This record gives sequence, structure tokens and C-alpha cells, in this order.
Amino acid sequence: MLDRTQRLRRACASVVVALVAAMVLASCGSGGGAGPKNQQNALRPAGPYAHKILNLFTPFFWIAILIGIAVTTATIYVAVRFRVKPGEERMPKQTHGNTALEVGWTIVPALILAVMAVPTVATIFDLAREPVGPNVLHVTVSARQWWWQFTYDDGTNIVTANELHIPVRTPVSLSLVGPPLCTGPRCYSNGVIHSFWIPELNGKKDVVPGRTQFLKLYADHPGTYRGQCAEYCGLSHADMRMRVIASSQADFKAWQASQLAAKPESFYLTGVDNSTWHCTECHSFVPKVPGAQAPNLTHLADRQAFAGDIYKMNFDNLWQWIWNAPARKPMGNLQGHMPSFKNDRGMTEQQAKDIACFLLKNTATNPPATVEGCPS
Ligand code: CUA
Repeated sequence: MLDRTQRLRRACASVVVALVAAMVLASCGSGGGAGPKNQQNALRPAGPYAHKILNLFTPFFWIAILIGIAVTTATIYVAVRFRVKPGEERMPKQTHGNTALEVGWTIVPALILAVMAVPTVATIFDLAREPVGPNVLHVTVSARQWWWQFTYDDGTNIVTANELHIPVRTPVSLSLVGPPLCTGPRCYSNGVIHSFWIPELNGKKDVVPGRTQFLKLYADHPGTYRGQCAEYCGLSHADMRMRVIASSQADFKAWQASQLAAKPESFYLTGVDNSTWHCTECHSFVPKVPGAQAPNLTHLADRQAFAGDIYKMNFDNLWQWIWNAPARKPMGNLQGHMPSFKNDRGMTEQQAKDIACFLLKNTATNPPATVEGCPS
């Protein structure tokens, strides 16, 4: 017959074993790469920089699990072993200080942390080293309220928004710059920190006003890698997303050539009735010229999404955005944000739809013959 203490001990051991088994199964369940294939999963690195971070994370994760199990098991054991038994009224023996124990539990964790610091510091320095050489692609990333502007510093000076095209197997060196200064009652962006993060290509880096920060990317394979701002920056923080589209050198060059071959600005100014709506006070249709306040719209229809990469690029989303953008984004009434053309500028629904149709049909590299929802 087992006595009560033994039964309790066995029950506790079973619980610990079950917990460990559950954790092991959860972490190994999906095999070679954990978690969902959502294009935004740091546990599925797609390049050497992200791999380095995972290679650091994985052993530390298991060390932390082992320590966690040891501490939990010891706590449960002590609670069971030394519990007050029925009918027992005595006070436990009081112990004040145990030099050997105290030195031990100070030195052991310090040693563990010191050992872990070696590969950590090496990885930090490694990831902070700027790639050099003629094949490095340099891009300036500007954080805005709430979207990203990309300027190619490779001689092309192409300016685009929210979707960063890069060639595969090429180091990309990013210069991250904070939002421009503004003044006035609805100015909000001054001093706001954003953070650029494409989890499958590298760790995150804060984008700090008044500073230029460095981050590098590298994609092993063609694909779309998604990311989002990782520093709380206002009510649309969660709507400040971006994607990196990695393609072959040839496809990347073709994308750059198509951007530079966009039709002249005058063509677009007529199409969007710029003399009435003044789109170019904020936007730009010239491939190399940034918009004064808002995204460059060169080949807008080639992008998969818009407005901080939150709305899929289609007719319904685009005309509703053009008509009443502030209603479609929290804190959308800030200075420098798209005004409500519906409420403040007298734009009709049909006028918004006409502009959306024009943009979808004319700002694509290969303009579609028809766009769903638009007259052909
Ligand atoms: Cu930008 Cu959060």
C-alpha cells in the first residue's frame, strides 16, 4: 500500500511529465519551422540574419525551459515533503541564512547569464555590421504617420511606399529615418518612435526622430515577407504595416525599369482632376519625387495593398478610401493625413469611383483591360 505522501509525490511527478510532454509536442509539432506560414513568423527565418537570431533563441529557449522545470519541480517537492501533517501542531524549524545556498544561487545564475552573454553579444555585433561591396542595395526607409516610404539610394532614386522590392541573395542596407517635423494643432508625429520589423528577414530596429538607424535585410528565396511597425505610435500603430517583395535580380531590375518608365505626370494630373482635388499637394506621380506629405503613387495599382498595407488593392477599397479616408483609419484626421473629400471637399461618390477606376487602370505596369466595378 502506498501511503498518502507517496501518492501525492507520484501525482505531482505525473503532472510535471505531462507538462513537459505538452511543451515538447507544441514546439516540435510543425516540424522544420514552427508556427503558421503567415509570411511574418520569426520562427521561419528566410535569410541568414533572421537565422542567426533563431539560432540564438532556440538553445536559450530550452535552457529556460529546463530551469523552469527544475524550479517548479523543486517547489512542488518541498511543498509536499514538508507540509504540515494531520494532527501536527509544531512550528517548522526556523532557518536564518545559509551561506552555502545563498552563494550558490547567486553564482550559478550569474554564470549561466555570463555564458549566454557570449553568443548574444557576438550576434548583436554581427547584425550591427553594415554589409559592404558593390552588390549591396542601399535604401532609405522613412517612417510616417502611418506608412513607410522607401527611397532607393542605388542611383535610381525611385520612391515608393509600403512595398519594398529587393533582389534575392543580395544584402540590403537600410537607413531608417524618423517622421518629418510638423507644427500646428493636429501635428502628432514629432518625437514619435516607430520600429521597422520584417520578422522572417531580420530583427526589429527602432526608427527614432532625429537619428538615422541602420538595419540590414537578406532574403534567400523569392517571396513576400510581411512586417509591421513594432513600437506603439498612435491609434493606427497596428495599421502601419509593410511588405518586402524579394525577386530574382532580373525581376527586380524589371520592376525598377517599369517604375522609371511611368507615364509623365501631366497624364495623371488630368486623370485625377488635379486642378479640382489638388492630389499633388501631398502625393507625387513622378517616380523619383517623394510626395510632400503622402505616398508616391507611381504604379500604385501594382501594389498588393495600400494605406499602410492594410487595404487590399481593389476598386471598392480604393474609391471608399479616396472618398473618406479619415473614416477608414483611426486618428485619420491628423495633420498631413488624407482629408475627407466626401465631408470637407464636396466630392461625390461617382467622382471618387472615377478616380479609383482611373488609378487602377492607369497606374499599373501592365494596365488591365477591365477592372471589376469600373466601366470598360
Ligand atoms: Cu509606427 Cu507603431
